[in-house]
Amino acid sequence: MPQDQLTPMTSEPILEIRDLKTHFMLDTGTVRAVDGIDLTISRGKTLGVIGESGCGKSVTAHSILRLIPSPPGQIVNGQILLHRQGEVIDITRLQPKEAAIRQIRGADIGMIFQEPMTSFGPLHTIGDQIGETILTHQQAESAQSAREQVIELLRQVGIPNPEQRVDAYPHEFSGGMRQRAMIAMAISCSPMLLIADEPTTSLDVTIEAQILDLLVDLQEQTGMAIMLISHNLAVVSEMADNIAVMYLGKRVELGSTDAIFDNPLHPYTQGLWRSIPRVDGPLDKLIPIPGAVPSPRDRPTGCVFASRCDRFIEGTCDEPRPVPTLEVEPGHFVACYLYD
Ligand SMILES: Nc1ncnc2c1ncn2[C@@H]1O[C@H](COP(=O)(O)OP(=O)(O)O)[C@@H](O)[C@H]1O
Ligand SMILES: [Mg+2]
Repeated sequence: MPQDQLTPMTSEPILEIRDLKTHFMLDTGTVRAVDGIDLTISRGKTLGVIGESGCGKSVTAHSILRLIPSPPGQIVNGQILLHRQGEVIDITRLQPKEAAIRQIRGADIGMIFQEPMTSFGPLHTIGDQIGETILTHQQAESAQSAREQVIELLRQVGIPNPEQRVDAYPHEFSGGMRQRAMIAMAISCSPMLLIADEPTTSLDVTIEAQILDLLVDLQEQTGMAIMLISHNLAVVSEMADNIAVMYLGKRVELGSTDAIFDNPLHPYTQGLWRSIPRVDGPLDKLIPIPGAVPSPRDRPTGCVFASRCDRFIEGTCDEPRPVPTLEVEPGHFVACYLYD
């Protein structure tokens, strides 16, 4: 068992990802979008996953739900273990179109995406689409009782006049309201885990704060775990219990939110903090991380962050070998030679 699984912060896991590798086999070469990550999500807790665009966050989320387009994508290694009422299911072993994974999607694991219009089709009312999900998972006896449940859900996510809004079409909702409706759909079958992939990225900051508050409220009411994916460390640190930092398909750091906030270890995490405004920091000192995430097709052979790292050690960080993951303090892991 990897060290991560033994730490107190992972006491009651509901989802364990072990050495997951999801690659895309393209004519031009293999894109190692997710390249050996370990993550654990505990019951009722929030795991934040952060990293710049292209680091493999969405591919991780889609791997969990077996939504990777294949070909060209493939889970080439690892396990995704879902703990459900005494049984453990390895999601990587399921066939993507099998009833088992369809049951898991929605009923055990709900998902909200960055752009709500991708979840709602334009031709049916919000109420019909959420109701359909409820009926598909046999959570209601009849269309009428599904409709009543939808109205209740819309109320729960803070949509005003749900009795009327249930019959609205997606385009009649504002961006914030559509995001609330999508959250209603994601929680309609009481999942034990909600995956929220950049749930507020297309919204303005006021609405963003409201949506994050809503997620916190729903978590308190339902006890569901949340995997909160964002490129914004500030957003994640507000509600996560633990944070995983991803870079180029690797988990470069993992720790409690306090540890990542007070004592970020990886130069990448330190760079992310320097690049965003902090309540306790001066606004004029924001320093973006220089350079850009390299294409996963020309990955550095040593540490994936080497090309942008301000603490690069020649002859060590560029050695073509995997960087060891070290537990620097209990529950706080980093993959960096500075701590070796
Ligand atoms: N269907 C696909 N075909 C080829 N490459 C893909 C596909 N989906 C994602 N990728 C690549 O995988 C990498 C990780 O993408 P993604 O997980 O979407 O990043 P993010 O962290 O921004 O969510 C990127 O380099 C992306 O181009
Ligand atoms: Mg993404």
